[in-house]
Amino acid sequence: MKVRLCIILNLILVGSVFSQDMSYEEIMVQLQACPKECRCPQDFPRAVYCDSKGLTTIPNIPPHTWYLYLQNNNIEVLSADALRNATQLTGVEQGVFSTMVRLAHLYMDDNALSSVPSPLPSSLEHLRLSRNRISKIPAGIFSGLNKLNLLDLQSNKLMDDAVTEVSLKGLNNLVQINLAKNQLTTMPIGLPPTTTQLFLDGNNIEKIPEGYFKGLPKMSFIRLNYNKLVSSGVPKDVFNVSSILDLQLSHNQLTEVPLIPSGLEHLYLDHNKISSKPEICLLYDTNESGPHLRYLRLDGNEIKPPIPSDILSCFRLLTSIII
Ligand SMILES: *[C@@H]1O[C@H](CO)[C@@H](O)[C@H](O)[C@H]1NC(C)=O
Ligand SMILES: *[C@@H]1O[C@H](CO)[C@@H](O)[C@H](O)[C@H]1NC(C)=O
Ligand SMILES: *[C@@H]1O[C@H](CO)[C@@H](O)[C@H](O)[C@H]1NC(C)=O
Repeated sequence: MKVRLCIILNLILVGSVFSQDMSYEEIMVQLQACPKECRCPQDFPRAVYCDSKGLTTIPNIPPHTWYLYLQNNNIEVLSADALRNATQLTGVEQGVFSTMVRLAHLYMDDNALSSVPSPLPSSLEHLRLSRNRISKIPAGIFSGLNKLNLLDLQSNKLMDDAVTEVSLKGLNNLVQINLAKNQLTTMPIGLPPTTTQLFLDGNNIEKIPEGYFKGLPKMSFIRLNYNKLVSSGVPKDVFNVSSILDLQLSHNQLTEVPLIPSGLEHLYLDHNKISSKPEICLLYDTNESGPHLRYLRLDGNEIKPPIPSDILSCFRLLTSIII
């Protein structure tokens, strides 16, 4: 009875394993090379789960891994050296990453890294390093990472001098960068022109340089909540970029409503110091269909209900307004 059950179970497992784009041999190699600390699901053999295991170093990762989860450990370094040692353990000739030429997602949130790890495989698409102790991004570290579209460095210790002109060089397809909850006092420089989403909440940013978004023609989502922006630090023309859809400036020290592009759909200005009768319909351009704003937050300012009538006559597509 027991034996029969095992056979049936095996058949089911093999059946589901074959639904992936790996050969039977590859799957076997992958599962047999699974580090003992980690979990390699039979029905998803491209993924290796080594999260929350108290690891201080990276175990030897099987060659066909595309998704590597290392969150919530105590890993301090991911140096070529550490990887060289790891490969020696199993006698693999080349470095670990040279066999991991397809690694797409590397998740190392909640570790103890003090620097962006290197070297990184050029196949990488998502790199998550939030809640580490990263204070530096060595120059050239991202060169060749042409496929990386998401970089999460939230809740680290990055200061202004850590994000220089050369820091992000090589990220030719970056879409989202998250630098929230660091120690920046100025806007990061050297963002790739492909950048679409910029998250900078919870820093100490006081001003935005003139023309900052000019070289960023795809910028759509800008989050600058919980900073120290004052209206004199926000140049009149700075948001004059027609691609911006979502602009979040909550919890700053703004006294005026900034000019906005007519394509903007969501504007967050709550918890600033905007006066009771702000000038509100300030647009860079006029569109025959009018401004596109649908969502507006103005609560936590000096404005008191009722909703000023010029807001409603200006933004005819508005579906939500919070005063
Ligand atoms: C690699 O192994 C050598 C020799 O055992 C050791 O001295 C070195 O500290 C190891 N490196 C890392 C990063 O673990
Ligand atoms: C906004 O940008 C457009 C196109 O770059 C330019 O023609 C226009 O003068 C700018 N408007 C303001 C108010 O800066
Ligand atoms: C007005 O907005 C529409 C919809 O976003 C856009 O396609 C069109 O190019 C805009 N026209 C002008 C004059 O900006």
